[in-house]
Amino acid sequence: MGELAKKLFERKVNSTRMKTFRGKHSTVEVRDRRAIKKFKKGLEYNFWKEVAFLSYLQPHGFVPSLYSIRPERLEVEMEFIDGVTIGEKARNGELEAKDVLSCMDICRKLDEMMIQKEEMHMPDKHIIFRDGKAYFIDFERSVIKKNPSNVTQFFSYLLKLKVADLSIMEFVREYSRKMDDESYLRLRRAVERALIVLD
Ligand SMILES: Nc1ncnc2c1ncn2[C@@H]1O[C@H](COP(=O)(O)OP(=O)(O)OP(=O)(O)O)[C@@H](O)[C@H]1O
Ligand SMILES: [Mg+2]
Repeated sequence: MGELAKKLFERKVNSTRMKTFRGKHSTVEVRDRRAIKKFKKGLEYNFWKEVAFLSYLQPHGFVPSLYSIRPERLEVEMEFIDGVTIGEKARNGELEAKDVLSCMDICRKLDEMMIQKEEMHMPDKHIIFRDGKAYFIDFERSVIKKNPSNVTQFFSYLLKLKVADLSIMEFVREYSRKMDDESYLRLRRAVERALIVLD
């Protein structure tokens, strides 16, 4: 094969291997288990927030590994989580009690760290399960806040999915008032009981 033909062939192979997602704020290119999130022009603030929160959360094991950043191109290179989104799981009737509880625990962790992820009431595409483990993606809108509401927002998602019901509301209210471990555990147990009934 001539040099030019070889190059064209390689380019074809590479391009077929590449997958692209289009978000509102970015384009995400997937190549060799890496996701490269390219922010749209002018979204420097979103870019730096994604980088800051992803870095901060690295030791906790529920976000993609951060590989590199290219600020001049607004690009973040991270691990591609090849799995099933929570939305898909829910629609296929495959969302199990342990999945729901592990997401709630991550929301509690974010609350404790005073990180408001934003949009936890509609995390359809932003929680991905791989090998039974939940990963949260997309931190570009996150903020530091004294009283974050990740757990309570996630609870409203559970209501929408009809995997929890309003009988748990009193525990949600108590948790959002106190935000302590005890009220979280009470809420967690109530959700767990509701999930067992629904299973
Ligand atoms: N690390 C990753 N692993 C797996 N899939 C990813 C990853 N990062 C992004 N994606 C995919 O790309 C899509 C867009 O990414 P993301 O949500 O971060 O972009 P966005 O521009 O902030 O979009 P949005 O409009 O949803 O806020 C995601 O819904 C997901 O399908
Ligand atoms: Mg986003």
